[in-house]
Amino acid sequence: MFGPKIHCVVIVGAQWGDEGKGKIVDVLAERADLVVRYQGGANAGHTVNTDAGQFVLHQIPSGILQGAVCLVGNGVVLDPETFFTELDELTSRGVRTEHKLYVSDRAHLTLPYHKLLDRARERREQIGTTGRGIGPTYEDKYGRRGLRVGDLRHLSRAREFVCARAEAANDFLALLGSTERADPKEHVALLERLAPRLLPIAVDAGRVVFEALERGESVLLEGAQGALLDVDHGTYPYVTSSNTTAGGAAVGAGIGPTAIDAVTGVVKAYTTRVGNGPFPTEADPEVAKRIRDLGGEFGATTGRPRRCGWFDAVVVRYAVRINGLTGLAVTKLDVLDTFSEIPVCVGYRLNGEAVDSMPAEVEMLSRMEPLYETLPGWQKSTTGVRRLADLPPAARAYLDRLQDLARTPIQYVSVGTRRDQIIEVP
Ligand code: IMP
Ligand code: MG
Repeated sequence: MFGPKIHCVVIVGAQWGDEGKGKIVDVLAERADLVVRYQGGANAGHTVNTDAGQFVLHQIPSGILQGAVCLVGNGVVLDPETFFTELDELTSRGVRTEHKLYVSDRAHLTLPYHKLLDRARERREQIGTTGRGIGPTYEDKYGRRGLRVGDLRHLSRAREFVCARAEAANDFLALLGSTERADPKEHVALLERLAPRLLPIAVDAGRVVFEALERGESVLLEGAQGALLDVDHGTYPYVTSSNTTAGGAAVGAGIGPTAIDAVTGVVKAYTTRVGNGPFPTEADPEVAKRIRDLGGEFGATTGRPRRCGWFDAVVVRYAVRINGLTGLAVTKLDVLDTFSEIPVCVGYRLNGEAVDSMPAEVEMLSRMEPLYETLPGWQKSTTGVRRLADLPPAARAYLDRLQDLARTPIQYVSVGTRRDQIIEVP
């Protein structure tokens, strides 16, 4: 992946999130000097299996498990409680984090009142959010009333500010009909507790990335969620509140777009979605359950059962276009090992007419009828395969078809949850 001409690589989800970015980042981070999370917050759930067991990271970049220096970029909304809980857990499990983990002084803080607001809104709006305060934190950011990591350097001002914000949140909670209230004193205490831990690791993250690239180091920009959850390009309003696509990587890491050399999109060999909103290739409940059980498809953050269905080439082609994908990593191929036939959606039809691109409105997307091509299954285990040539011919044909439909080369194929269960395509 990294090479003489490729120093800065973005990893993005090319479906609705949960494509297995954590695992791919973990594999690539072995060769990276710096790993940067650039958007989202504690809504993400990146699951990584190492020799030391399973880790689920929400707020800290997955690259930490490979010993890369990790940065939480300015585009991330940082939930300090989750962050330090995670950090302490990593430390207690023997992962080195000292001098390995830094946060941008421009990242916005997700505070308890954001979570209360998220849950109160969710009761009305039914987006299916993770309840982690993501939307309200970004609202405050773009409304120019957020609190950033760097603001903790001026603690007395931050104290006053957070009290006023907690009180404003309480007015809102009352308006929303919620009986929950934020406690200003608790917020002040939280900031006082946080500042001494957060400030020593607060840096100008964009500058750190820039200087690493100047030195010729390898930088991995780790996305969260997926293209169809992007606030601009996703299935709005059933999206998250950040730009999950590669353009968000430049903004959220604090570098220019010309610094990025390659963008790899991670796709599952099928499709899942958690939360509400249209999902054209969603399988009927029986098949969905079979995929869910085989793939362990339960949310890493909320534990919710994921909705499951077939590979959707319209979705992935769209993700290729809006991210400028230069390659694909296909994950969870092994989950399909026992199917005798595997449908793949090659296009949509609406009112008898063919549609080959993603409509802007969810109402229209929910009326699309997927057009399927049925490919033969291989009905053999792929979990032990490490070279493309050793895959059953039907599995190779399946991958070839996905690659043709996406018009983008496959660079990696993952055939299990363990680090070593990966095929690198030469
Ligand atoms: P929020 O990001 O918590 O505001 O949730 C908005 C939508 O994005 C909901 O449908 C969530 O289920 C979905 N979502 C947020 N984070 C993830 C993720 O990491 N994986 C999959 N879906 C996510
Ligand atoms: Mg996930």
